[in-house]
Amino acid sequence: MAGTPLLQVTELKQHFRMSSKYTVKAVDGVSFEIRTGETYGLVGESGSGKSTIGRSIIRLYEPTSGEITFEGTDISGNLNRKELRLLRTKMQMIFQDPMACLNPRKKVIDIIAQGLDIHKLYSSKQERTEKVYRILDKVGLSREHANRYPHQFSGGQRQRIGIARALIMEPRLIIADEAISALDVSIQAQVVNLLKDIQEETGIALLFIAHDLSMVKYISDRIGVLHLGHMVETGTTQDIFDNPIHPYTKSLLSAIPHANPVKEKSRVAIAYDYATSGIDYGKGVQHQVSDTHSVLATEEELQAWTAG
Ligand SMILES: Nc1ncnc2c1ncn2[C@@H]1O[C@H](COP(=O)(O)OP(=O)(O)OP(=O)(O)O)[C@@H](O)[C@H]1O
Ligand SMILES: [Mg+2]
Repeated sequence: MAGTPLLQVTELKQHFRMSSKYTVKAVDGVSFEIRTGETYGLVGESGSGKSTIGRSIIRLYEPTSGEITFEGTDISGNLNRKELRLLRTKMQMIFQDPMACLNPRKKVIDIIAQGLDIHKLYSSKQERTEKVYRILDKVGLSREHANRYPHQFSGGQRQRIGIARALIMEPRLIIADEAISALDVSIQAQVVNLLKDIQEETGIALLFIAHDLSMVKYISDRIGVLHLGHMVETGTTQDIFDNPIHPYTKSLLSAIPHANPVKEKSRVAIAYDYATSGIDYGKGVQHQVSDTHSVLATEEELQAWTAG
């Protein structure tokens, strides 16, 4: 896929100043890009900065430093109302807990049409209803669902409502922040398949955020592994799964349960503790292992990790 990436994040820093003495460096110099129609999986443990990255991209925060470009336009500086409005349509977010972000007193039709209402994207009530029906259909819900309330749905269905609400804006990028983490494994697979189908049909790019690698494997073209605000390894899904280099990536991989119970019995989880590892992310630089694969390390670390 040639040409300018849809989204380019360069050396993004998002620091939160808590007091005169203490600053949380939630994101500390992260770079990656997402191409049109691509799914980028962002993984890392709790507190690694995943949501902060998503929120910085969608401009809920003012980035401390670094650059974010979307469709070739720098969106990291001050934005005027028109630019911000464009972003709020072309990028959409799906959240972990749909119940928390679906207004319980609103009917599904009004929840899904909210973005249309805000941006006045229809010329008649009928057009609005038609648009909602079409999207309900696309996410595997039915028209009868339109007049119900969020509490009348299962977790998986609610997540479909969240997806419908994003899709109706015809975005170019969807940021799915732990969108399926709260669902049963079987329902997770359904929602992942739904997202894949939609992507095939529409060419939407997806930033898929998760704390482990299990589902990320099935949906991502490329993966970024985040730890303590640093991107420690990036590569194609194959690079990450077949040739992991960073010890943190290896520990994440070792945490994935095997479907095969015999193999699962002999699975050994590899522990990774930054504090005692002797690794200093501040000293490492991005080393290109191949065209698609890079790792954050010092020369010595890289040699040690790739030896044998
Ligand atoms: N608005 C904020 N003010 C201060 N600190 C923040 C703020 N938002 C996030 N943080 C801190 O930044 C770090 C990264 O948080 P973030 O929510 O991005 O992590 P995460 O990877 O999404 O974690 P989780 O998997 O638990 O959702 C954490 O230490 C968090 O406490
Ligand atoms: Mg988060």
